[in-house]
Amino acid sequence: MTAPTVPSGRPGGPGDPDGRGIDSPGVPGSGPGFGPGPGSGSGSGGRRDSAGLIRAEEAVLAPNYHPLPVVVARAEGAWVEDVEGRRYLDLLAGYSALNFGHRHPVLVEAAHRQLDRLTLTSRAFHNDQLAGFAERLAALTGQEMVLPMNTGAEAVESAVKVARKWAYEVKGVPDGRATIVVAADNFHGRTTTIVGFSTDESARAGFGPFAPGFRIVPYNDLAALEAAVDDSTAAVLLEPVQGEAGVIVPDDGYLTGVREITRRAGCLFVADEIQSGLGRSGSTLAVDLEEVTPDLVLLGKALGGGIVPVSAVVGRRDVLGVLGPGTHGSTFGGNPLAAAVGSAVVGLLETGEYQRRAAELGIVLRDGLAPLVGRGVRAFRTRGLWAGIDVDPALGTGREIGERLLAEGVLVKDTHGSTIRVAPPLTVTEDQLRGALAALERVLTVPA
Ligand SMILES: Cc1ncc(COP(=O)(O)O)c(C=O)c1O
Repeated sequence: MTAPTVPSGRPGGPGDPDGRGIDSPGVPGSGPGFGPGPGSGSGSGGRRDSAGLIRAEEAVLAPNYHPLPVVVARAEGAWVEDVEGRRYLDLLAGYSALNFGHRHPVLVEAAHRQLDRLTLTSRAFHNDQLAGFAERLAALTGQEMVLPMNTGAEAVESAVKVARKWAYEVKGVPDGRATIVVAADNFHGRTTTIVGFSTDESARAGFGPFAPGFRIVPYNDLAALEAAVDDSTAAVLLEPVQGEAGVIVPDDGYLTGVREITRRAGCLFVADEIQSGLGRSGSTLAVDLEEVTPDLVLLGKALGGGIVPVSAVVGRRDVLGVLGPGTHGSTFGGNPLAAAVGSAVVGLLETGEYQRRAAELGIVLRDGLAPLVGRGVRAFRTRGLWAGIDVDPALGTGREIGERLLAEGVLVKDTHGSTIRVAPPLTVTEDQLRGALAALERVLTVPA
């Protein structure tokens, strides 16, 4: 893999509508909040420059990722800076883990404060942060109970366990017979159980045998869902918007239909809002847009403020209440540092400001992409400040488009084929967003 060879970005790039270079990506150390950092601008070809660090990673890291060739050393807000001091607008935002931008001062302060007092107790003891976090999170999401975990996959695994236990103890499904209905093209994480019900061969191949008990139906197909649920169904588990699949937005009424079918079938509706939730979709949860209340909601990513891994299952008391002491747990789940940061995240969302920004900037994003259809873009989908963009394959793979945007000072991530996804921090400014759209237009329409 090669490292970037030229400073990225150019006047007129994101955040630089006047072409003055202030705040523009690719300008070492420029703009507010950035100065020369450790390792920046060394250009020595040694261990601390991009090329050297990429080589060092490749020599020792398990090769389960293929990162873009940028080595980030610092970040603030929507900007990241590489070890040479080049700046890039981050339109991936840690797959929505950085909804509030890099190092949001309120979140960093909450973390610092907690670091100085207490970091870990394990749930063998109580800590003074957890109750407040759980109360606020339940209130924010309109639910009654919280099961704190760490990663998204753990929240999904926890929901699978809870749903099965609920099916046996409350619904009366014969032991060992519970099924969970999931959607094709889902992405719920990387554990063996979860990849076992993935339809993505690259996620599954070579990792079997897989756990039984899952039925897969097409996404956005209520008739297929209705046909799949029966007396053995513990739950329907879905993403309200399929992020990894390319920001696939279901038809209006789909989530309401899922709620009605699950209610009629006497099974749980589990909404995986790990990527779609916490402001991204223009509301606190994506299901809020249809005023649907699932039985369990899975949260992660942005819940940790981009600082610590924090996930949670939030839901009905009579469902999460099936767990008893010793039936489930996690050494780090609910730790006081996570709870303090998670509480500060909830505090930001309680203001409604980030949901509003996602909705308003989402319109800028949608309106900026619309004229590109037929000019390098085949199709696109948006929900809030979140887009899946199908680029004309003749222009390159999603990866190649990502590399060309990198050279423009914009970071995005490809997903399948020639699709790229855009999920800027919800703190991005309109000018920055317009600058990124202009960079996308250049990449798609101006010959390289
Ligand atoms: C919808 C959804 N669920 C679950 C996960 C898994 O989260 P994690 O990577 O924290 O395990 C992801 C991650 O991308 C996701 O998008």
